[in-house]
Amino acid sequence: MVDQHARPPTGEGTPPLPSLRWDEPPEGPVLVLLDQTRLPAEEVELVCADVPTLVRAIRTLAVRGAPLLGIAGAYGVALAAAHGYDVAEAAALLEGARPTAVNLGYGVRRAAAAYREAVGRGAVAEEAAGAALREAKELHREDAAASERMAHHGLALLDELLPGGGHRILTHCNTGRLVSGGEGTAFAVALAAHRAGRLRTLWVDETRPLLQGSRLTAYEAAVNGLPYTLLTDNAAGSLFAAGQVDAVLIGADRIAADGSVANKVGSYPLAVLAKYHHVPFIVVAPTTTVDPRTADGASIEVEQRPGQEVTDVTGPRPGAAGGLPVAPPGTVAYNPAFDITPPELVTAVVTEEGVVSPVTGGGIAELCARSRQV
Ligand code: MRU
Repeated sequence: MVDQHARPPTGEGTPPLPSLRWDEPPEGPVLVLLDQTRLPAEEVELVCADVPTLVRAIRTLAVRGAPLLGIAGAYGVALAAAHGYDVAEAAALLEGARPTAVNLGYGVRRAAAAYREAVGRGAVAEEAAGAALREAKELHREDAAASERMAHHGLALLDELLPGGGHRILTHCNTGRLVSGGEGTAFAVALAAHRAGRLRTLWVDETRPLLQGSRLTAYEAAVNGLPYTLLTDNAAGSLFAAGQVDAVLIGADRIAADGSVANKVGSYPLAVLAKYHHVPFIVVAPTTTVDPRTADGASIEVEQRPGQEVTDVTGPRPGAAGGLPVAPPGTVAYNPAFDITPPELVTAVVTEEGVVSPVTGGGIAELCARSRQV
């Protein structure tokens, strides 16, 4: 991994560096990532010239968020093919890098299928690598388009549920441009509400332990000029009790066939609070996050991450050595990266294909019938 260049954080109105881009310098193709572990302090690009480097970037969350993981996985296959590595082996490594976001496997399988199909019809290695790259670029484009459609459907839903405007929206983790080929999922809806003059405030959960809310969502809100306020995750309850939340908007890492939603740990408690306080709990995700092969919430594999992410506060650089210990040495920590929200707590699932509400197995099956699945 090479730091290609670093620049001070983007200010309001400055175009951000792309979350990910394919590049073809004379030394050979590379996948260039905006290193999300360095935000918001600085914008640094990581150059991945091989699959193990990309796998490490995925595990350390330099690249993260379900849709972007899918895109990165697809480009990872293209990278392996372009450098003449064993594509099946590379695909297995990439798919296994993180277990919960279904998009990762989806993107990997799509690019690998395009490569195999080309090989099957007698293409030479270079042509087959080109087929994998075209598929990755196509997924990248589709995700950007999906993002735009989700923002459109999500804003219409907000207007229907909250006709008065002046929305006060609570969000968790990070779901903007940093996770997407476009403007994101839940964050794209908040952004659309802001552009339409209907967002009063975006409440941003800090999202312990890796602070995707404070490091990344607050950064994206600032870049886009959104009115936002940061809170600790455990302040959400009193915010609901004070009547300060009109809707919760979150993304998803996997939506099972019964409508159960896996998302960043801390999402489920928000769904419980939203139910108690009669506030809509809305999940925004592309259809590539829907996984009809996983029957229900209990069948979703939840990634367990190192306890050190909890026992040490790592500051602006998660995973970096030299964090500040906030627990006695030897403390054992429980650190699931995600939790599962059952469908009965979800008011609606917003996708690029439209809105599913109420959220039931039947509604999810109908959605899948309308969309492309690998
Ligand atoms: O562990 P992360 O940072 O990859 O988790 C990301 C999330 O949980 C997001 O909320 C989810 O991927 C939805 S983003 C569209």
